[in-house]
Amino acid sequence: MTATSQPNNIWDTTEYQFPRHGILSEKLKFLVGYAVLAPSIHNSQPWKFAVRESEIRVLADRTRQLNVADTDARELYVSVGCALENLLTAATYFGLRATVTYFPDPKDEVWVATVTFAEGGVSPSLADQERFHAITLRHTNRQTYANKPLTEHDIQRLGASVREEGVALQISDDTHVKLGVNALVVSADITQFADPHYREELNQWIERGTFGHRWLISRMGQLATTYLASHHKPVKPEADIVLNAPLLALISSTTDDRLSQVKAGQVFERIALQATTLNIGVQPLSQVIQVNSLKPELLRIFGASTTYAQMVFRLGYTDIATWETSRQPVDTVVTS
Ligand SMILES: Cc1cc2nc3c(=O)[nH]c(=O)nc-3n(C[C@H](O)[C@H](O)[C@H](O)COP(=O)(O)O)c2cc1C
Repeated sequence: MTATSQPNNIWDTTEYQFPRHGILSEKLKFLVGYAVLAPSIHNSQPWKFAVRESEIRVLADRTRQLNVADTDARELYVSVGCALENLLTAATYFGLRATVTYFPDPKDEVWVATVTFAEGGVSPSLADQERFHAITLRHTNRQTYANKPLTEHDIQRLGASVREEGVALQISDDTHVKLGVNALVVSADITQFADPHYREELNQWIERGTFGHRWLISRMGQLATTYLASHHKPVKPEADIVLNAPLLALISSTTDDRLSQVKAGQVFERIALQATTLNIGVQPLSQVIQVNSLKPELLRIFGASTTYAQMVFRLGYTDIATWETSRQPVDTVVTS
């Protein structure tokens, strides 16, 4: 595949552009176009892909770390896990057998995984196909969700996405959980925005233009809600995105090494893709994990049996279209 065969807007990629009759490495380059559509903290896209004849090395781009919001690069690795999940989902769809070796060199944190591919994979299941089609439709949805409980069937479909050892998903519609998480969000927002280094870093990423101005508008709206709540002022009920969310979810893990972080990212992305197929919006509320002192309370609120919080997010039905965020051109993230 040449550099020009990918669409100008990578969100417009379609399965019909797949180089079905090309050599394996051309197919692998095409898969990278799906990997980069993954969510990432602040849309930082902290990944690189070294495409070889029959393998892709998935690399962490540590130059794109958020040194203040993500001091220990935990969310950077969660983000790389999301991209890896998209890569595997697309490979399955196109009939490629993929074998993942995580952290092939234990001394090299940058080399997250080697994925080896072969022709002749099994036919994708219906769920695999649905998740593949969701890759180009998934967007973080920061709108208020419909005030309607999720059906038991849909909750089960979301829960079925979790199959990584050592990673757990907790989903709750309990008012006490919502009240508890809401208090943590308020506290985390206040702590973070009081820190000039945090504001400076956020500003730098906003200036890069990766979020788009609409992100800023929705974030400002949410901060206004936080401000009012922290001053015990009345808030319009629908403006309160946490209390108003039909469901809150927590992904946690038994260990907090790089492997668990990557796997937590894979689980999160699988849920996000599954949610997209069910018209369910997803928005992470990462501030409560970014402020270290709040983590134990978060785990307690969810009654989590595993020890490390990796992703907390809200979920709910939505028919409100949301927007595409920009991506680095695929050629710039493919390395030799
Ligand atoms: C590890 C991680 C943490 C994130 N934290 C937040 C968050 O706290 N609030 C939020 O609104 N979005 C959060 N996001 C979503 C990103 O901002 C979003 O993925 C990115 O801007 C790209 O947009 P898209 O998901 O619509 O493609 C997070 C995503 C990841 C992977």
